[in-house]
Amino acid sequence: MDKKIQKKFDELAQKNKEALLGGGAKRQEQQHARKKLTARERLDLLLDQGSFEELGKLVTHRSSDFGLDKEHFLGDGVVTGYGTIAGRLVYVFSQDFTVLGGSLSETHAEKIVKVMELAMKNGAPLIGLNDSGGARIQEGVVSLGGYADIFYRNVMASGVVPQLSAIMGPCAGGAVYSPAMTDFIFMVENTSFMFVTGPNVVKTVTHENVTAEELGGASTHSTKSGVTHFACANEAECIGQIKTLLGYIPQNCEEDAPRLPYTFGDEKRPQLNDMVPANPNQPYDMREVISGIVDENSFFEVHKNFAENIVVGFARLAGRSIGIVGNQPASLAGVLDIHSSVKGARFVRFCDSFNIPLLVLEDVPGFLPGTDQEWNAIITNGAKLLYAFSEATVPRVTVITRKAYGGAYDVMNSKHIGADLNYAWPTAEIAVMGAKGAAEIIFKKEIAEAKDPEAKLAEKVEEYTTKFANPYIAAARGFIDEVIFPEESRIKLIKAFDMLENKAVKLPRKKHGNIPL
Ligand code: HXC
Repeated sequence: MDKKIQKKFDELAQKNKEALLGGGAKRQEQQHARKKLTARERLDLLLDQGSFEELGKLVTHRSSDFGLDKEHFLGDGVVTGYGTIAGRLVYVFSQDFTVLGGSLSETHAEKIVKVMELAMKNGAPLIGLNDSGGARIQEGVVSLGGYADIFYRNVMASGVVPQLSAIMGPCAGGAVYSPAMTDFIFMVENTSFMFVTGPNVVKTVTHENVTAEELGGASTHSTKSGVTHFACANEAECIGQIKTLLGYIPQNCEEDAPRLPYTFGDEKRPQLNDMVPANPNQPYDMREVISGIVDENSFFEVHKNFAENIVVGFARLAGRSIGIVGNQPASLAGVLDIHSSVKGARFVRFCDSFNIPLLVLEDVPGFLPGTDQEWNAIITNGAKLLYAFSEATVPRVTVITRKAYGGAYDVMNSKHIGADLNYAWPTAEIAVMGAKGAAEIIFKKEIAEAKDPEAKLAEKVEEYTTKFANPYIAAARGFIDEVIFPEESRIKLIKAFDMLENKAVKLPRKKHGNIPL
């Protein structure tokens, strides 16, 4: 090699060695002082040992404004490349907060765009480890353009390859909008924040005093806003959760999720027989029904602490990956409201995009009434869930465990909107509404004129209950394919999803539908 070139190469290699160590010991210390790992330490935890191949490590920023000419950082604040997780290919970027706050410059954006395009072309998930103050302020419009380049690819990649975002530091501005367009967001308690504008700007504009944690911490976004799907105790747990989730999903929209080997045994689950309490108004935990049906310890819940009246997550059934949507009688009686409808709809759409069959466990008294819900558009938001189920072409099976009332009967994957198989337990009640409400409306006059209105109401409630609080009228119509004993649910569902394995449905030709957003 020419001596001059060799010298330049050695110089770069020395600098790069420092970068490889996490931007040098000093910057590594800074990051650890913030109770955070460095960008490279995170990738070490995420990827199979020795599998990481870095791209663009000699890239530096181009701008020389506002002091940017003083120092150039190899890699420009983001480590990008590809590697494997459990032997499966993934593309990654990991932002380095110690370089200008992980802010996004023109070149930083170009590096991320490069791996996004590779991920799309080669059909493998994209994982972003975000730790960034947003657009690099010194660079002006080129950094804004860089974000828009990323947003555009996020949308192009949506439904093509899974996109996962971990938030591992204070992320502001554009640094939150790109994750918002990915499939799943993971946050770390106490060290990660997401906001469009931070507490200082909030104070100036709205005069609210709020801490960063209250405004956009992991607990806020996992309970109040639902922006994040997972809130993790620390970075190691966060990375562990990402790996677990990947195990349930395929590499891209053309593939099926990996199936684990399974040896059949006694698939009866007698514990399911006692799940539904004798009193129809008594709650029970739908998670226990899920555990009773799926492979042992295989339920991986998504959005656990948000809109708890619906439970969504992935599980395995005889080794097959499935998505589960269940009403949760233990929270608000399992009613459908705005948040639970949106939570359910988004999960259904993810599963449908990536060929993951859907199981619905239904116990729903209807939509939540009231001004709060009406004024905040329960009509539009409830319609999202209805739309998402109707549009889904993956295998779809429903088990009604107890209540299937009103519009919620239609919405929760009924036969009428394209479910493939609909089962009901003998405890199912399928009616337009609860017996008391129904009797009060349709026998209003008779009750009012009765000598003993209370006794009359009780008589009419009994009459309505006998007629409708069961699954047999729906079964006689074929809306329910079979009334099954709870203990048989697992084996019935294993067979159902086996039977539906090669399901092929084509939606009418269109550019795209117009989901009520
Ligand atoms: C350049 C930045 C930066 C940015 C942080 N830094 N954000 N440099 N551009 N956007 C630098 C700081 O100057 C500092 O440099 C170092 O990163 C660490 O930042 P600190 O403020 O010391 O850290 P911390 O107290 O932890 O606060 C982190 C933060 C805060 C909450 C992210 O820095 C912040 O509010 N930054 C600005 C956020 C923002 O408004 N971004 C632009 C959004 S507009 P030194 O040299 O002192 O170590 C945007 C538009 C996109 O993104 C389009 C959206 C649709």
